[in-house]
Amino acid sequence: MLGLHGVGYRYAGYAGPVLHDIDLTLADGEIVGVVGANESGKSTLSLVASGLAPGSIGGGLSGTLTIDGVDMAGRPLHEFSTRVGIGFQNPATQLSGVTGSVFEEVALGPMNLGLPTRETVERTKAALATLGIDQLAEREPRRLSGGQAQLVVIASLLAMRPAHLVLDEPTAQLDPEGTRLVGEALRGLAATGTALLIVEHKTDLLDGLCSRIVVLDAGRIVRDGPADDVLADPRLDDWGVDPPSRIRLGRALAMRDLDPALIAGVVGS
Ligand SMILES: Nc1ncnc2c1ncn2[C@@H]1O[C@H](COP(=O)(O)OP(=O)(O)OP(=O)(O)O)[C@@H](O)[C@H]1O
Ligand SMILES: [Mg+2]
Repeated sequence: MLGLHGVGYRYAGYAGPVLHDIDLTLADGEIVGVVGANESGKSTLSLVASGLAPGSIGGGLSGTLTIDGVDMAGRPLHEFSTRVGIGFQNPATQLSGVTGSVFEEVALGPMNLGLPTRETVERTKAALATLGIDQLAEREPRRLSGGQAQLVVIASLLAMRPAHLVLDEPTAQLDPEGTRLVGEALRGLAATGTALLIVEHKTDLLDGLCSRIVVLDAGRIVRDGPADDVLADPRLDDWGVDPPSRIRLGRALAMRDLDPALIAGVVGS
């Protein structure tokens, strides 16, 4: 369980806060999506929820952040890193730079958790297979494409099996097949009890994956509800968010007096 209660955050050296009065709770095994226009505060929320802000980058936090009921104020960063995984918006910055192959890169996380070699190898193989990148195992991490780097970073996070995982635009550089594989992998991870917070512009991915979605606008949560309700909210466009294709098609059909049930089972969930 991860909870933000009345949380505000201001970057170091800046007077005004970027996040205001954020109330957000993630139950174990729950997948919550975060949407919002550019600069609405999604990445900042990811940094705060994972403890990197202010733990690593400084700045000022107000309100309370709890993990499994424990107030995390003033706790050292390593207490966060064992409990909350984070995938950054730019995956290239997250590769360690110290490994010679993708296999070693993905194994680094479980190894650092102190897991036995056999389990580390098993988890690494499983994560690579789940994301369809077994064939990259021998590849040097610095020779990866943007999309491949994104999958490798997600594989590293899957292999650590964190209790909570925050992903900032995890499929931004992926094609539809990569996006689909990541969606399935995240659904599988949540089924093991991991609480997931997923920032995404691709509402088609969130549709059917998330139970809840929150909308950020200028650093505030302006909508929080069941995914189906939020994705069908007519104000989504005003908040700078594209509705999923299922909703857009349904509206287009309704405008022509056609029954939206025509596309049931054809598009989306
Ligand atoms: N390191 C930083 N120092 C100061 N201000 C920052 C920093 N990073 C982001 N900001 C500011 O915080 C606000 C929210 O930015 P953030 O990156 O969280 O938005 P976002 O919703 O993730 O945007 P995008 O969709 O473009 O990724 C913006 O006004 C941005 O300029
Ligand atoms: Mg961002």
